[in-house]
Amino acid sequence: MSTSHSQQVSPATEPAGETAVSRQEQAADNGTPLGPTGRPKRDIPPPPELDKHGPARVLAMCNQKGGVGKTTSTINLGAALAEYGRKVLLVDFDPQGALSVGLGVQPHELEQTVYNAIMERSLDTRDLVHSTVIDGMDLLPSNIDLSAAEVQLVAEVGREHTLMRVVRPMIADYDFVLVDCQPSLGLLTVNALTASHGVIIPLECEFFSLRGVALLMDTIEKVKERLNPDLDITGILATMFDPRTLHSKEVMARVVEAFGETVFDTVINRTVRFAETTVAGEPITKWSPKSNGAHAYRQLAREVIRR
Ligand SMILES: Nc1ncnc2c1ncn2[C@@H]1O[C@H](COP(=O)(O)OP(=O)(O)O)[C@@H](O)[C@H]1O
Ligand SMILES: [Mg+2]
Repeated sequence: MSTSHSQQVSPATEPAGETAVSRQEQAADNGTPLGPTGRPKRDIPPPPELDKHGPARVLAMCNQKGGVGKTTSTINLGAALAEYGRKVLLVDFDPQGALSVGLGVQPHELEQTVYNAIMERSLDTRDLVHSTVIDGMDLLPSNIDLSAAEVQLVAEVGREHTLMRVVRPMIADYDFVLVDCQPSLGLLTVNALTASHGVIIPLECEFFSLRGVALLMDTIEKVKERLNPDLDITGILATMFDPRTLHSKEVMARVVEAFGETVFDTVINRTVRFAETTVAGEPITKWSPKSNGAHAYRQLAREVIRR
């Protein structure tokens, strides 16, 4: 996979991407430049500073398809929110532990993770939270232990509310809690949706990306109806956009046609830089603060704060 990526996208992903973006930028009738969504670009100023923190908005990063940018978006949106002075807790809710790895934590070495938080009621979850390389951003890590929870929870009363019970006592301490979901619509994801105020759906700009979205929407709707009336879709985030291909633009147009204003103005371009950041164990906002990727996630943070 990485070889075909690097042949297609690299070398010089960033500079080529940038010129391509400006070349493709068209103007609306009144001369306003259009963004990659095909809508006029809207300028969102930096958010106001906060003088106190909490209560947090809990957002689930959710799509049952793997490899669409859930984990990458969790880390980088979190880091961008923290740059704007927001206190952020990231919850790794995927037994693969990719979020933890992406922040330099070795999940298999951990004695206690989010698994213990949800299975052992007596634990104080705050003791399981790690600080990260980003000031103001904490992590509740996970590892493969969490895969057992799905089976163990099935027999429990209130099995859909276990993560909510874990997160609730920490809401006062943070401005945002981002839950990185596993690629499935199983009980763990239902727990994440039940614990959340909003859902962010990363959607890659690829042909089959819309397959499965109806099922995801259906699941969100059911959770809203039966478990969590407060749940809303915060936004759909187009990822892996390649401004040089017609294909990406066509997929983008279909996504906007289907979901309208739910789609964020911010679009994340495809770039090999995100793979580098995983190896580095740092968000792109720190690893390469001036990159297009860092800029895009800061724009997304502004949109999320405003929504
Ligand atoms: N915008 C992007 N451009 C290129 N590669 C990306 C981008 N976002 C994520 N990736 C890479 O794609 C892979 C899958 O991303 P990830 O965030 O782990 O997806 P998910 O959590 O949905 O499975 C990772 O190797 C990641 O580095
Ligand atoms: Mg992931």
